[in-house]
Amino acid sequence: MSELLKQLQRRRTFAIISHPDAGKTTLTEKLLLFGGAIQMAGTVKGRKAAHHATSDWMDMEKERGISVTSSVMQFPYGDGIVNLLDTPGHEDFSEDTYRTLTAVDSALMVIDVAKGVESRTIKLMEVCRMRDTPILTFVNKLDREGRDALDILDEIEEVLEIQCAPVTWPIGMGKRLKGVFDLRTETTHLFSATHGGKIKSGELIVGLDNPRLNEVLGDMADELREEIELVRGASHALDLDAYARGELTPVFFGSAINNFGVKELLDAFVEYAPAPRPRETRQRLVDPSDEKFSGFIFKIQANMDPSHRDRIAFMRVCSGSYTKGMKMRHVRIGKTVQISNAITFQADERRHVEEAWPGDIIGLHNHGTIQIGDTFTEGEELKYEGIPYFAPELFRRVVLKDPLRLKALQKGVLQLCEEGATQVFRPLKNNDLILGAVGVLQFEVAAHRLKGEYGVEAIVEAVSVSTARWVVCKDAKMLEQFKVKAHENLALDGDDQLVYLAPTRVNLSLAEERWPDIQFLATREL
Ligand code: G4P
Repeated sequence: MSELLKQLQRRRTFAIISHPDAGKTTLTEKLLLFGGAIQMAGTVKGRKAAHHATSDWMDMEKERGISVTSSVMQFPYGDGIVNLLDTPGHEDFSEDTYRTLTAVDSALMVIDVAKGVESRTIKLMEVCRMRDTPILTFVNKLDREGRDALDILDEIEEVLEIQCAPVTWPIGMGKRLKGVFDLRTETTHLFSATHGGKIKSGELIVGLDNPRLNEVLGDMADELREEIELVRGASHALDLDAYARGELTPVFFGSAINNFGVKELLDAFVEYAPAPRPRETRQRLVDPSDEKFSGFIFKIQANMDPSHRDRIAFMRVCSGSYTKGMKMRHVRIGKTVQISNAITFQADERRHVEEAWPGDIIGLHNHGTIQIGDTFTEGEELKYEGIPYFAPELFRRVVLKDPLRLKALQKGVLQLCEEGATQVFRPLKNNDLILGAVGVLQFEVAAHRLKGEYGVEAIVEAVSVSTARWVVCKDAKMLEQFKVKAHENLALDGDDQLVYLAPTRVNLSLAEERWPDIQFLATREL
């Protein structure tokens, strides 16, 4: 087997999707712990402080206790190499999350056993469905009283429209939590609470008829036997092909904070989750085992390290391999560049990467030439597809406190847009800068960063725009007519694409009626 094939088959690149507070951060940390990427002791509180010190770079984030930016962690697990792409939990940064999900091969969904399916989970699931991303499910917080396990599965099936195949099953819950039963191996894993950073596994009892079960579970042993029979009859069997197609999700139960059920989850994850899969480009389907290198940029993050003031473009390697010093073609601008200082993200530190394989994420230093959606190859004219920009829902005009800082403002705003942190629109009729975002918090972050990173004191104020649509028309003459008639409402985005800024929804409907041959697009694919 070629080195390329060997390496890519070891790769598992995924993201965790969940509603805030379901336990994503806690689970991430336990995965790193089980993977041996970090050695940790101490309490959750201590962990949170340490976590902030290493991966969070913005004061605001610390103040608010939310993770604004996503990051990447790589760690070995068994024979596998796991790439975990973190996503911001706060919904105001959902665009970033959507784009990150285009760079993974599968997802892990975390559900709070007391709360069931929540709103953010529904949205993220919709995004996963666009690419039929395979999903593994972890029902968390079993150490607390929650809802009946069958009830939770019903809700997942109904609301998220995906079949559930339980792989482990809880024995009791809350104070009565005794363990989980593995339906594949018929093994009971007894629960023992372990807070903090130690890996300690409870006793394992093999076989459902094992008399030892009666000793430790008492009356609950027979209850368990009955329940397992019921579960086997009432739920879907584990069908890995259906999982790979995104139609069925294997479900695990546990308690992340107690390291409980996490090992079962991780073992199964490495076994079931797909290695890098072929990906569509505008030109052809690219197989990860193609010898020639290719990859695309799904995220740009500025000033990750305030002392360096750098911007990093995150690239997902899709085929071939990266080796330090190699030449890559930056397809959009038609230039060949030599890359010798790409970085990798191992647990809590970044270092220079010598080689990378399909599924890996590498960071390129960006001096303004790289945009989200850019494809890099070993020469071929390819363009990876499916990285979306969403029409913002909220708009603000940026107003400078010191008019002499206009240049710095423009530079700052354009760089924030390159990152996809906000979108900028420049009306054709005047020199305004209008920011567009999906969530209000994005404006606050923009103003905060303009001040901290570009030395620009700006305020954002209300502007009468309620929605935006990218304008496309095959008929050049018609487009020119439209430009004249709709001049008042037209603007250019950060990439000089034409956008219609509608003051009201009604105005947009009228424009759509009046110009049936013009397309008004709510997403722009890069
Ligand atoms: P998130 O990233 O999805 O937002 O969730 P996070 O891991 O931060 O967890 C949210 C809260 O749920 C945290 O409590 C965390 O300790 C708790 N938690 C996570 N897993 C479990 C579990 O298995 N059982 C129980 N009982 N709780 C769990 P917090 O009070 O918000 O934070 P902290 O003060 O404990 O750090």
